[in-house]
Order: sequence, then structure tokens, then C-alpha cells
Amino acid sequence: MKTLVAGVGYVGTTTALLLAELGWKVLGFDTDNSKISALSNGTLPFYEPGLDTLLRTHLSNANICFLVDPVQAIRESQVVFICVGTPSLEDGSSDMRYIRSVAEMIGNHMQEYKLIVMKSTVPVGTQKQVVQWISEAQISSIPFDVVSNPEFLREGSAVYDAFHPDRIVIGSDSDAAAQQVKMIYRDIDSPYVVTKPATAEMIKYAANAFLAAKISYMNELARLCDQIDVSISDIAVGIGYDPRIGKSFLQAGIGYGGSCFPKDVKSLLHIAKEHDTNLSLLQQVVHINETQYQYFIEQMVRRLGGLDGKIIAVLGLSFKPGTDDLREAPSLKMISHLLQSEAAIQVHDPVAALPEQLLHKNIVQFESIMDTVRQADAVVICTEWPEYASASWSDLIQLMRNAAVFDGRNVLDGEQMKAWGYDYYGIGNG
Ligand code: UDX
Repeated sequence: MKTLVAGVGYVGTTTALLLAELGWKVLGFDTDNSKISALSNGTLPFYEPGLDTLLRTHLSNANICFLVDPVQAIRESQVVFICVGTPSLEDGSSDMRYIRSVAEMIGNHMQEYKLIVMKSTVPVGTQKQVVQWISEAQISSIPFDVVSNPEFLREGSAVYDAFHPDRIVIGSDSDAAAQQVKMIYRDIDSPYVVTKPATAEMIKYAANAFLAAKISYMNELARLCDQIDVSISDIAVGIGYDPRIGKSFLQAGIGYGGSCFPKDVKSLLHIAKEHDTNLSLLQQVVHINETQYQYFIEQMVRRLGGLDGKIIAVLGLSFKPGTDDLREAPSLKMISHLLQSEAAIQVHDPVAALPEQLLHKNIVQFESIMDTVRQADAVVICTEWPEYASASWSDLIQLMRNAAVFDGRNVLDGEQMKAWGYDYYGIGNG
């Protein structure tokens, strides 16, 4: 059986290589020529640990190949995984144009039964819509099934997550189609949730919104902890032992970013609005997230007596460690604000580079942490890359003009930092 993965971005490439590793022949399709030629040459168009090795193995074994020809892509495959993006539009809704164009491509070119598996995160009701788009594009009526199979993998640990999912959710109107999806994943050890398509679509939003809410809850409590001399990190440990709460996603910081949480929470709010339902808790989740970096900057301004003319060393650009992804990264909002305040900025990130829109005369990116903190009035940690926790802070202090450290991810040992002579502030540990 040959599988097609339509859309070889982050989720698509990981899915394609998972399928190849599970023993299926895989075609990776995309309309972006440059992506296809990079992948065909064994180069990932993004950074993801471990994925490049898998890519090269399966290219050399001819288990996977990449193409831009839609006719060949559809005619040669029996199962199509839709993995195209659904970016946010201005009003918070999802842009469905890529989903629609893959649906029409399938309808246009199919000549025999197809199983279509939706991996993209899509508004509730999309499976039905895709069925309609495919039917309308068909020249003659050929049977097909569309199954919702949302993806839960995290950037930076995509390979591990793909092979060790917490659950596989299958939303299908047809038992036979659901069974076929299970058969494709038969070598993966995971619980299955087999349900209706709309429920599967909603499970994805509900999961991401819940995790975002956990983070915003801790971020809001962090603001109170600063006032009452209590450490939010200790609170996370103390409540995390309760299995009803769980230890993960309790880390306060400067806010969540990435390609999923911000977009998915807003998309869920948009869906609720369309159905005249007010999700006030989630509105607050977004509000807290959008103001968290400002709260952090207020602490900096208070402690530094203003930012004007100060040299600020920003450690970490990516929205989280293990990725070069800058989408919705809190660091970027922070840097824009610092620039407006007339601060000079020196940045460092182990893999991510400053985006075009931030190339500015008052901002320089360095390759080493040492060069980045040299002459700085303050260090700001925006991403918890392990190299920041393990840097030799006892020596770095000599290089700084003023030894202030603002730890937006609570990665450093505050007591130790103070003992070395730093004016240290960890968010929610103030
Ligand atoms: C997320 C979901 O985890 C994944 O299941 C879904 O499929 C896609 O979205 P990802 O965006 O890769 O994955 O990153 P994740 O590790 O979940 O972190 C998201 C954001 O939350 C990051 O900005 C991270 O820094 C932040 N975060 C996470 C916190 O601020 N505190 C925490 O305790 C955990």
C-alpha cells in the first residue's frame, strides 16, 4: 500500500517519516518546489532533532520520495494524509484554503477508492466540509472516506512523540475506515479513541486549550507570588504531585508561543463565537498570555530604572528549546518592546536567527553567550535552552556592565546567582 502525505511542513514530514518507518511506501507532496527539492536531497527545511537521520535513511532505502505533481501523487496512492497548514486569519478563524485545495486535488484526480486522513488541526465540522469539497470536485462518483486523526506532537520532540503517542484519536463515520487507520498504525503501542469526526476535531482544540489554560493559570499566579514572597516554582512542585493536576505544563514564564497554542485557542474562541457561546475562561487565557511579557518588562523597568540607553542581552529567540521556530515567540514581542524603549540589544540563540523584521541598527546577534552578555546592563532569558542553565555564570558576571539577570523561564538557581553577586529576578520568584 502506498501512502501520500499532502503538505510536507512540520507535521507532514514527521508523519511521512513515521509511515516510512512503519514499513509503508510514502510519497510526500507539496506545492512548494524549494521544500520538495530540499527534502529530496536529504535536507530538512526546519530544525527538528533526529528527523534528518530518518529522512536520509528512508531516502536511501527508497521508502520515501517527494514530488510536486498532483496527478501522480493522487493516482499512485491509496491513502492520503492531509497535513497542510491552517494559519490564523485576522479574526481568529482558520484559513482553510490549503485544505480546500488538497480536497479538490483529490477529487479531481482520483480514479479509485481513497482513504483520506485529516491530520491538520481544523475547525469542528471540517471533515464534513472536506467530504463535500471532494465530491464536488469529482468528475464521476468514486467512493472515499474522510477520517479525522488529529496530531499531538510537540516541536523539538516530534520524533519521540510520533512513535510514542499518548493516544491515537480516530474520528470516522465508517467502522471500516477507522479499522484501516488502526491497521496503518498497528506497530505503534497506544490507546485508541475511536469516535465521531467532529468529536475528534474538538478533542484536539480541547487538549491544546486546556494546556494553554494551565500555563496562563500559573503565569497569573506568578504575578501574585512576586507580591507575597512565595516562589511559583515551589507551588508547581507542591501542586504537581496531585495526579488530578499533574506535574507538566505548570512552568510559569513569559507566555506560551509556537504554531499551535496561540492559533488553536483563538480558533476555538472563534468557533464558540460563531455558535453564540462565550468561552470567558479561554478569553482570559489569551489575555494573560498576551500581557505576560509586558508584566515581565515592567519588572525590568522598575529594577533597572528605565530601559532607555541600556544594553540588554537577550538569551533565546525560539518559542521553546529544541526548535528554531519563531512563530509567536514571546522573545520577539519582548525585543520589539525593548527597541521602542530605545534599549540596545544583543541576542543569542543556539539555532534560531533573528527574523528580517527585527534586523535593526540597535540589535546584534552573537554566536557565543560570552559575547552576548559582554557590557550588558541586564540579561534576559526568554527560552530555556539547556546551555543557559549550564553557562558559567560565576565568570560571566565579570563581563557585564551591570549584573542584573531577568530569568523569564526560571532556569537558573536564584540563590546561587545572588551569592555570585547578581541582581537576579526569576518570574514569580521575586
Ligand atoms: C503543542 C502541544 O504540546 C502539542 O500536543 C500540539 O500538537 C502542538 O502544540 P508545541 O507548540 O510544539 O506543542 O510546544 P509545547 O511544548 O506544548 O509548548 C508550547 C508553549 O508553551 C511554549 O512556548 C512553551 O514555552 C510554553 N510552556 C510550556 C510554558 O510556558 N510552560 C509550561 O509549563 C509548558
